[in-house]
Amino acid sequence: MIPQSFIQDLLARVDIIDVIERYLPLKKRGADYYARCPFHTEKSASFSVSHAKQFFHCFGCHESGNAIGFLMKYNGLSYIEAIQELARDAGLQIPDDGRSFKQQDGSHDRLIEIMTASAAFYREQLRHSPLATAYLRKRGLSDDVAARFGIGFAPDESTALQRIFADYRDKLLHTAGMVIDNDQGRRYDRFRNRIMFPIHDRRGRIIAFGGRIIETGEPKYLNSPETPLFEKGRELYGLSLAQKAIRQAGFALVVEGYMDVVALAQFGVENAVATLGTATTPHHIQTLLRQTDRIVFCFDGDEAGRKAAWRALENALAALRDDITLAFLFLPPEHDPDTFIREKGADALREAAAKAIPLASFLLGKLRQNNDLAQAEGRSRLVHEAGPLITRIPEAASVLRLQLVKAIADASKLTQAEIEQNFGLQPARRAKTHTDATGRTPGTKQHASVPRSAPSPLVAKLLRLVIQHPSLASKLPPDLIPDTTEEGRALIAIADLVELGETVGGLGALTERFRDTPHSDTLNKMATQLADLDEFRDPANIEQQFKDTLCNLQIALVDREIKELTERLTATALSPVEQSRLAELLREKNTLRNFTDSNVS
Ligand code: CTP
Ligand code: MN
Repeated sequence: MIPQSFIQDLLARVDIIDVIERYLPLKKRGADYYARCPFHTEKSASFSVSHAKQFFHCFGCHESGNAIGFLMKYNGLSYIEAIQELARDAGLQIPDDGRSFKQQDGSHDRLIEIMTASAAFYREQLRHSPLATAYLRKRGLSDDVAARFGIGFAPDESTALQRIFADYRDKLLHTAGMVIDNDQGRRYDRFRNRIMFPIHDRRGRIIAFGGRIIETGEPKYLNSPETPLFEKGRELYGLSLAQKAIRQAGFALVVEGYMDVVALAQFGVENAVATLGTATTPHHIQTLLRQTDRIVFCFDGDEAGRKAAWRALENALAALRDDITLAFLFLPPEHDPDTFIREKGADALREAAAKAIPLASFLLGKLRQNNDLAQAEGRSRLVHEAGPLITRIPEAASVLRLQLVKAIADASKLTQAEIEQNFGLQPARRAKTHTDATGRTPGTKQHASVPRSAPSPLVAKLLRLVIQHPSLASKLPPDLIPDTTEEGRALIAIADLVELGETVGGLGALTERFRDTPHSDTLNKMATQLADLDEFRDPANIEQQFKDTLCNLQIALVDREIKELTERLTATALSPVEQSRLAELLREKNTLRNFTDSNVS
């Protein structure tokens, strides 16, 4: 039997958002993520996933559950199989012989430590290498941008890392991809004589490196191998730094090279990310679509660039939706983004990005250009080539798909119905007016609209705990905290920072971060109250207090809503939505009760 403690730990470590997003394009709205429900047919997105709750729920068909439940239902797995799959992804070993999974757990952190220490070492080496600094200067990199991206230098020595790792034979150095063991059992550094670009995950932790040879040599770029930390097809270079700029600019710019991202940032175009020597994957696209609804792929204007763009298009089709724009920017053949922005400037690049070719016209243009439409054969081939592309477009982009079908019908001198039949597409279904079963606009969470005044002492206590122990901030569930008090709003702001991957430092750093915002006053006020409070006498107890306070807050909120609903119930009949909400609340309350009870015992 799999111990319950293991399952709890597993669920705490995997993010349901990551799990579900592998299968569905999730879009963030408010605190939650939404998609069209995979468990019933619908036009609008009423399938919601909550990061804070680690739970999904469809407002339409009422299917719900956690990450395990999703995998069972979606992939038809058994309970055990679903746990096995999650454990595999999380790099956890299911304990079967009493062996603690905690060891595995710790090794993950150790790998991050190895990467972080290596990056610091490479940065240090850069300072001491006139050769490397001269190369960066020649490439036009400012010190500032090199520092921002943590660029370093791996010296031309076979075992330089021995200087920082006391145990150079440590197995984990190999697991991290930092060393290579040769056939004779000799070990040496993977990266030598290279400019080092640390690759961060979304949260800003270093998980891999890309190393560029100085001047010329082969291979020009050497990347970390795939490791437990690093899966190339999932990561984007520069994303952790670019996230904010992507939201501000309203689009993400996807380029091919490390140097491109760095150069663009240096010239103020900070919303760029790069794939890591791989084609753009559907996962890349979904990751970006969580931040923005417009992606511009930027490629060199040469033949290789056109090919790469086409591959990106093919991979993007499955992620298409009618409410997003994917576009392709082709630079003049002699340029890559790095040289383009240095020569023409940031505004020229932004202008070009604004005029990028939308996916549909790129697709149609290529098909038309491939085939001689004056001939029946050419027109047939166009249909033949279009088929596998068009059928990859999901229901979520049915309108765009329809337009493409019409354009293809036009170009091939066939009717729309003939094309649809040829592609095996259902003729356009008559749109069922399908508000979901609850009759509510999907996506707006019913209980979020119920005005709640906050149980303010509990919220204030939470804030005190968090500013005293900022590490707790990562455990704040932002969608649970009412924003009706200044303390609540400050807590939400802090939780948001953490969610954006910012490290929340001590109180000093925190107030600095909120300087010139209303939260800074709130924090300062709270800080002055901290000193003489009983609740901080026993620091070992802090975590428990935090949990209890959160739990009590949740109970208070549930109670309040139950009260509101039952009061209404006496006056009028509840709608089906309200009835099911009430049942849900009562269940929730029970769970919470059990939780507090088990805490006491
Ligand atoms: N790449 C790689 N391995 C190589 C060559 C390229 O992984 N041997 C990847 C790298 O991520 C690189 C990107 O492909 O950043 C683009 O390659 P390229 O256009 O050749 O390099 P640039 O980014 O233009 O780099 P530079 O300007 O330094 O030549
Ligand atoms: Mn280049």
